[in-house]
Order: sequence, then structure tokens, then C-alpha cells
Amino acid sequence: MKTRLLTGQDIEAAAAILGDGGLLGIPTETVYGLGANGLDPEAVRRIFEAKGRPSDNPLILHIPDASWLERYCHDVPDTAYTLAEKFWPGPLTMILPRRETVPDVVTCGLDTVGIRCPDHPVTLAVIRAAGVPTAAPSGNRSGRPSPTCAAHMLEDMDGRIDAIVDGGPCGVGVESTIIDLTVTPPRLLRPGGLPLEALEAVLGEVAVDRAVLSPLSAGEKPRAPGMKYRHYAPKAPVTVVTGEGGRTARYIRERLGKHTGVICFDEYAGQFPGCALQTIGSARDPAEQARRVFDALRSFDGTSVEAIYAQCPDDAGLGLAVANRLKKAAGFQITALEEVEP
Ligand code: TXA
Ligand code: MG
Repeated sequence: MKTRLLTGQDIEAAAAILGDGGLLGIPTETVYGLGANGLDPEAVRRIFEAKGRPSDNPLILHIPDASWLERYCHDVPDTAYTLAEKFWPGPLTMILPRRETVPDVVTCGLDTVGIRCPDHPVTLAVIRAAGVPTAAPSGNRSGRPSPTCAAHMLEDMDGRIDAIVDGGPCGVGVESTIIDLTVTPPRLLRPGGLPLEALEAVLGEVAVDRAVLSPLSAGEKPRAPGMKYRHYAPKAPVTVVTGEGGRTARYIRERLGKHTGVICFDEYAGQFPGCALQTIGSARDPAEQARRVFDALRSFDGTSVEAIYAQCPDDAGLGLAVANRLKKAAGFQITALEEVEP
């Protein structure tokens, strides 16, 4: 299969691919997605095949506005509409009770479904033109860092899907925040482009799922099935170093070898002479770190780097999502310097 590159002008052609049961790369504000008609089980099955995605990891349905919620969900709580009003279109996925209209293959048999309205004019126009909810996981091969531009998606998906719509680089850079509204208190299943603090301001208490912060023990079942898989991983193993920036930079510098790669904050860029370096923005700017973290992880592939060390932000604001992606990329291989004596 030849994968075509479409532009933001090609709305009708892109919608036709969805209508015909094809696979379409779609730009969103978070990361690129691998879309198919979410009501067509055969098309959705092909998403799993193209990604090499485990068949027990459900997909998010993308809709153009909150008026579509009732088509696919029942017992939608008022809070869902309040959140939609405030944060949609935007990087928030809500888990809600699912109607029978949603095929089993989308939810992997769960009685809930994840729904989001992405903030990208091209993708919203494509979904409206197709007239169907679009099932879409991130557009990477399973286990790889998520793509934040069309070229990165093509790297993973060339020859496996019908087309990619190039809508420019993603403005947020990490996936949506996932909140489960079927439980009390609501539960954060994945930190993402919408900070936890913004949800707490609306919902009050929010429980943070254990899988967000620490690795699962053997056999433990996470509430977001995707959280159990190693994720976002470059080919070389990653070690995440948490703690104050000066200290983590020193720690990493003492361990540099010939084939070490480093992901660091801009302030410390001068401290790692001669090694493969990726900066991800200022230590004080987690939004910039979010935009750059996946590109940084991806950049070491195809180089001679054999081990990667990464500085890690603290959990405030978007830092929680950046730290979660780095820790998952590292398979939770973490050195916590705040826990040891200076
Ligand atoms: O920003 C995003 O959310 C991107 C763009 C393309 O919209 N999509 C994305 O999809 O990140 P994906 O498939 O890579 O991640 C979806 C996560 C998985 O961890 C999955 O297990 C979880 O959402 N999920 C989906 N449906 C769920 C459900 N009903 N209950 C719990 N978790 C669910
Ligand atoms: Mg993904």
C-alpha cells in the first residue's frame, strides 16, 4: 500500500478514506492519531494490525462536539458537560458508560468508552465531513514514542495506512489527559495535555491512578489497559533522574560514556560536552518540555547511542505528563536524587 500525504485542503479526500473503511493519519493538538471509522469494526480491527497494538487496549473515539456524546454514551453526568464546555475542543478524554452503538472492538469489550474532541480545525472538519466518530490511538507503531509531526508518523506507518493529513507540528506534544467519570471521585487514568490542577478546579477531589506514578506489580490490572505496556520507548534504554536540576545534571555528567545520550533542560545544555544531547526547554517551562519530549526520545534511534539519561521535571502542571512519559519510556528505571542525602 502506498501511503499518500494529504494537506489541510484535502478535507473531502480525507473524509472519503474514513467513509471507505480506510486508515487515516490525523493531526491533533496533542499528537498525530491513526484514525478509522469508529462504527466500522473491520476498519477498527485494521488499526490494531497497522500499529501492532495488543487487542486488549481500547481506543478513544473522537467527536466534533459534545452534542455527539449521547450517541455513544449513556448516563452522561452533568460534570461531563461542564468539562466539555470548559476544555473542549482540547486535550481531555472522558471515560463514560458506553452505548451498544459502539462496536466491541473499539472498547475491547469494556462497558465504558473514552471520548474526546480534538482541538485541530482540519481534523474537526474531516470528522464532520465523514459524519462518523473517529477511533484513533496515537499514530506510532506500538511501544514507540508518539508522533508529533506528519514526518514522524510516516516513519512508523509508511506503507501500512492509506494517507496522513499533514496539519503541521502538534502544539501540545503529549497525549490527552484521561479522566474516568464513571467512578467517585473521578479518577485520573493518564496525565496529559490538560493539567490535573485544571480538572481539580472543576471537579474538586480527583483520585490519581497508581499506574500514573509507579510501575504495576506483576499481574496487577490497570484501569487504563494501555498503562500496562512499556511505552514511548526509544531503542536505547533510558534512565530518568529526578530531583533538583543542578544535582541531576551533576549525577548524569559523572556517568557519561562514549555512547551516552542525554535529555536535559536548556539551562544545563553546556554541562555535557561531547555527548549526544537533546534539550527539551527550560526547567521552568513544562509546556515546552511537553512539546519536545517525544521528539527527543525518538532522535536517538538510528544513532550510536547505547544508553540515555534524562532529567525529569517535578509533578506540577504539565510536568506530571512529561515526567510520566519519560518514566514510562524508561520502564520506570528511575534514580531519585531527592531521596538520598546530598
Ligand atoms: O491525545 C490523545 O489522546 C491521542 C490523540 C490521537 O487523540 N490518542 C491517544 O490514544 O493517545 P492511545 O490509544 O494512544 O491512548 C489511549 C489510552 C490507552 O492507554 C487506553 O488503554 C486508554 O486510553 N483507554 C481507552 N479507552 C478506555 C476505557 N474505556 N477505559 C480506560 N482506558 C481507556
Ligand atoms: Mg499511544
